[in-house]
Amino acid sequence: GWNMEDVLEEEIKVIKALVGPEDHVICALSGGVDSTVAATVVHKAIGDRLHCVFVDNGLLRYKERERVMATFESDLHLPVTCVDATEEFLSKLKGVTEPEMKRKIIGKEFINIFDIFAHDLEKKVGKKPAYLVQGTLYPDVIESCPPPGSGRTHSHTIKSHHNVGGLPKDMKLKLIEPLKLLFKDEVRAMGKIMNIPVAFLRRHPFPGPGLAVRIPGDVTAGNSLDILRQVDEIFIQSIKDAGIYDEIWQAFAVFLPVKTVGVQGDQRTHSHAVALRAVTSQDGMTADWYYFDFKFLDDVSRKICNSVRGVNRVLLDITSKPPSTIEWE
Ligand code: XMP
Repeated sequence: GWNMEDVLEEEIKVIKALVGPEDHVICALSGGVDSTVAATVVHKAIGDRLHCVFVDNGLLRYKERERVMATFESDLHLPVTCVDATEEFLSKLKGVTEPEMKRKIIGKEFINIFDIFAHDLEKKVGKKPAYLVQGTLYPDVIESCPPPGSGRTHSHTIKSHHNVGGLPKDMKLKLIEPLKLLFKDEVRAMGKIMNIPVAFLRRHPFPGPGLAVRIPGDVTAGNSLDILRQVDEIFIQSIKDAGIYDEIWQAFAVFLPVKTVGVQGDQRTHSHAVALRAVTSQDGMTADWYYFDFKFLDDVSRKICNSVRGVNRVLLDITSKPPSTIEWE
């Protein structure tokens, strides 16, 4: 393997040489490991000529915005603007039930918000941003012609769910991809050298469309987002408390748009069912459902029904990928 201290030093040198002294650079932070490490590398190279944005699309997990902003600001001192676009996203998603349509609307709205951020920045600094930082990793890169030996190539096309295709066209942004030769474990090692908290570097992946792919049907109906956030938080916190978070590739709750009859106290209830999903995987392409022990599941199920209003039934998803996908949409 490579020495990550050397790779980091070299990467900083390359970025310093690439970005002109008057140039400004923009980056969208998702709250995930890759964009955070990429931005931190660039910040080390060019300081506050890097301008990051974090968009709250109203589809984030419990206290996610507060938590990642605290890491960006207090731990990493990244220059980041937080945009609360909850209203913009949720108003456009109202009544939409088709999964691909939901994804399309979310992707398009993200580009709108990013476009506004880039143009506001242009007004502020009096110059169009020149570069865009992306947290592309080596596995995202499609090798066109692998050379003999161990050298890694980096000619590639950008994956369709990366938002670069729709970025402000009049800006002609060039890409900076400081992680494009690295694997995930190398990205974590680089993050650790730069003092990114280890708990942050171990976070499970989270999809761009957020909780929208974990609520079949209209995500704005009733209080489904609020219920899902509470259930998910209990599940994830229990997994952390049990010391099994790092064994799992991804774990989350799913809101089911179905009500069943229950009995809580001496009352009959007509409330929602939720599903729990946890999988192990190498790369997300295939996955196996995770074997929890029954005592753990029993505790989580009780905790959820006792503390989340509107839920009276907990199911466990015991399907691998294939035939299922990891997300429910
Ligand atoms: P699936 O559900 O296809 O997911 O088995 C495989 C991995 O990809 C993530 N995922 C997404 N990530 N935008 C993203 O950024 C998306 O639209 C999206 N759909 C799925 C999923 O969380 C899992 O890690």
